[in-house]
Amino acid sequence: MSEVIIRCATIEDIGDICNLEKQYPVDMYSIDTIRATFDNDYYENLVITIDGMVVGYISITIIYEECNLVKIIIDEKHRKRGYATLLIKKIMSDALCNNASKVYLEVRSDNIPAKNLYEKIGFKKTNTREKYYADGMNADIYWYFLNDRAD
Ligand SMILES: CC(C)(COP(=O)(O)OP(=O)(O)OC[C@H]1O[C@@H](n2cnc3c(N)ncnc32)[C@H](O)[C@@H]1OP(=O)(O)O)[C@@H](O)C(=O)NCCC(=O)NCCS
Repeated sequence: MSEVIIRCATIEDIGDICNLEKQYPVDMYSIDTIRATFDNDYYENLVITIDGMVVGYISITIIYEECNLVKIIIDEKHRKRGYATLLIKKIMSDALCNNASKVYLEVRSDNIPAKNLYEKIGFKKTNTREKYYADGMNADIYWYFLNDRAD
């Protein structure tokens, strides 16, 4: 039976995180950008591992009452098994512990898997920012109010 663990990422995970970033080239963060998140107290990076192997990561900020889901990527070979859902539920719990009351995110309007994921968890789309991304793609903005959580 495989052991699935969610833990705080450390700087030693940066190679695995960069490899995950390569699987989302349309909005890929550089190693310098990722390294900067480890030096920034507002950021929290978590990895999900299977038997010690990193198969996904999530990056958030928590600033006062707002948690921003900045990035989530699951390794292509391990998608559709609920791992992204697990990571998001974990950051929601952490955000609540840090006195945040809401989570928001921006997602490319054409990213159907991600939008389905967020909507399944209960995020609500509030608005669209036209031509938000460098390639002209719109961004959909989603919010989740933590005190409305059913689980
Ligand atoms: C989006 C992503 C994080 C989902 O990860 P995942 O671990 O496969 O997601 P889950 O298994 O938790 O899926 C939960 C729900 O999301 C939706 N979903 C996930 N993948 C989907 C796909 N390929 N097509 C349509 N819906 C999808 C489904 O509603 C799914 O529920 P279901 O399995 O009951 O149908 C993953 O596809 C990924 O890493 N994509 C590239 C990076 C990215 O786009 N990140 C988001 C923007 S930063």
